[in-house]
Amino acid sequence: MNYPVWEVPLLGGGLLIAGVAIVHVFIAHFAIGGGLFLVLTEMKGYREGDGRIIDYVRLHSRFLILLTLVLGALTGVGIWFTISLVQPAGTSALIRNFMWIWAIEWVFFGVEIAAAFVYYYGWDRLDRRTHLTVGWIYFGAAWISLFLVNGIISFMLTPGDWLKTHNIQDAFFNPSFFPSTFMRTCVAVALAGLYAFVTAALLREEDLRANMIRYSARWLVPAFLLLPMGGLWYFAVIPQDARELSLGGAPVVMVFLALSVGLSALIFAYGTFGTAIEPRRFSLAAALVLLAMGLAVTGSSEWVREAIRKPYIIYDYMYANSIRVEDAPTVQAQGALASSKWATVRTVTPENRIQAGKQVFRLLCSSCHTVDGYNAIRPFVRDWPEDYIQQQLGQLNVLKPIMPPFLGNEQERDALAAWLATLGNQEQQP
Ligand code: HEC
Repeated sequence: MNYPVWEVPLLGGGLLIAGVAIVHVFIAHFAIGGGLFLVLTEMKGYREGDGRIIDYVRLHSRFLILLTLVLGALTGVGIWFTISLVQPAGTSALIRNFMWIWAIEWVFFGVEIAAAFVYYYGWDRLDRRTHLTVGWIYFGAAWISLFLVNGIISFMLTPGDWLKTHNIQDAFFNPSFFPSTFMRTCVAVALAGLYAFVTAALLREEDLRANMIRYSARWLVPAFLLLPMGGLWYFAVIPQDARELSLGGAPVVMVFLALSVGLSALIFAYGTFGTAIEPRRFSLAAALVLLAMGLAVTGSSEWVREAIRKPYIIYDYMYANSIRVEDAPTVQAQGALASSKWATVRTVTPENRIQAGKQVFRLLCSSCHTVDGYNAIRPFVRDWPEDYIQQQLGQLNVLKPIMPPFLGNEQERDALAAWLATLGNQEQQP
């Protein structure tokens, strides 16, 4: 508990990270599948000797590169800002573990950016072969970024043998690494198709437009066939408790999972069959709706992945409130306030009870609960008498397995109960 707590009112820190990260993930996957789309479609244009296809790829590359280099890079940096403010301890643990992976990833990101510029600038300036090679370099570097970052993200849910060995190889090639890399690659290819619908729908010539829409639709097919398998593979390797959370243990999580699967099915049904039957009637509006649905799928899937990791930020290693599992007994014995370097109240006294309780909430609960906004605590405890709250605090992890146990000492538990009891009663609130 070495860092100050940064509370985000109403939204909560978790949702703030999600808001930035989901946009980033959506764009980043685009950038990868889109790279493959550029080179394969450029090759198709040369093969068919159709200059209109090349013009189309050029238009597409402008949108793709603007979107990924500007919004993708901004949100990527945004993730660093938000995670290091909201979850400094978790971020620090990841950096210490994966320093080299991140260093390598930044090299590939640099290559990706450079290749994107050269590819775009190289239309008409480079010969075909060189231009295509640059395109392949762009796609290769982008995919390797995914490969590397995914090792870190999947580690947080399934640290696997690393928990015993603390070996970076065990951390990186963790149990959910391969299924999630596989799924993310499928998603990247499908998103390329969704994005291509938008640029294809902008084409004026009717037969070319119909042709490119039919072509774009084919990009959805691999994901359609392979994602269900990837999903089953993924669910087979994640921790038992995480699986149970997603399959009914926490109803909201199940709803989001169903939303993600259901919307994907709709996208594939309409995107492949709908367009194959009537490519001429496919409009820009329809393309944009599909794209928005794709964003919703990305959002809900990533949300589920984050939710099922609770109560941990790194599974079996660090709780969401930044306390390491191995430190929990010490924190409980010493008290959360005394263990925290930045708490303004260090010990509970009869005079500061309420104030101390509020601090305990900040330290132990505010990573998941706001007072009045997202996952608000006030409505939960509104009608609970103080002694009942006190008793429930003793079994938070039983009440909802998505929560860590109460990690303070007895006096802190009393103080927190006292503060929570004031929430139901506005006048008493400090
Ligand atoms: C890892 C995230 C996390 C942490 C940390 C956490 N909670 Fe929760 N808590 C949740 C979630 C998620 C729910 C359930 C929401 C639901 O089921 O609708 C919940 C529900 C609750 C409920 C309602 C339980 C019920 O029976 O309806 C109470 C009370 C509560 N939390 C109190 C606390 C207190 C006090 C703390 C700090 C000591 C805390 N929580 C820490 C995530 C967390």
